[in-house]
Amino acid sequence: MRQKIVAGNWKMNLDYAEGLALFNEVSDLIKTDITGVQQAIVCSPFIHLQSLAALAKGNIAVGAQNAHQNESGAYTGEISAKMIASVGAAYVILGHSERRQYFGETNGLLAKKTDTVLKHNLKPIFCIGETLQEREANTHFDVIKSQLVEGIFHLSADDFAKVVIAYEPVWAIGTGVTATADQAQEIHAFIRKEIAAKYSQAVADGITILYGGSCNPKNAPELFAKEDIDGGLIGGASLKARDFVDILKVFN
Ligand code: 13P
Repeated sequence: MRQKIVAGNWKMNLDYAEGLALFNEVSDLIKTDITGVQQAIVCSPFIHLQSLAALAKGNIAVGAQNAHQNESGAYTGEISAKMIASVGAAYVILGHSERRQYFGETNGLLAKKTDTVLKHNLKPIFCIGETLQEREANTHFDVIKSQLVEGIFHLSADDFAKVVIAYEPVWAIGTGVTATADQAQEIHAFIRKEIAAKYSQAVADGITILYGGSCNPKNAPELFAKEDIDGGLIGGASLKARDFVDILKVFN
């Protein structure tokens, strides 16, 4: 059985006190409402990480939203994987479309970031997804395949098994337009097929593939009912404790 995961990506929201309050609210709701073994992950800004990691227990873990590709050095303003691991975070989102779009992150750079993150025993939540133009030009399968091949298919099978993949169609992020469950399932099945061809069916069957893009408590049940959709990467709805935990509750 693949691990079911609902990860919240807070993006650049919430000051320190607001973040702690939201995390505590989420933890309390999880204690009372979640009866399954599904994993909740909160990916907060760096500012909150140490405090949240100290509070995280049971089926709630903490992750960062980015890490630098190099070990350390003269990179003013950057945060290393070693630093993230040292405060007790367990995951790092890599390759989010906002990082690709606004910070010029390429598949090649993300391959390096993935190696560095894994070296420090952090698990990457590796994001892939096509833009609207790419889907309209019918190149979405090629785009997804390149993101996989250039970003993470250099990994050994052992390392690859530590990766969580998130399919986030760029046109569905923060737009209120969700991919239909069938559209998402089609891509998730394609991703799993490519993993099976590169590694093995056993590796492919073990990889958790999340859907992200305007996911909310209303549409999550239909999305998560699909065979190859193992949970969600949640933006806006992760800023409301009730909504986030209701999405996690789909797996009860
Ligand atoms: P929204 O859920 O706000 O569309 O964001 C999705 C996302 O980018 C999660 O990483």
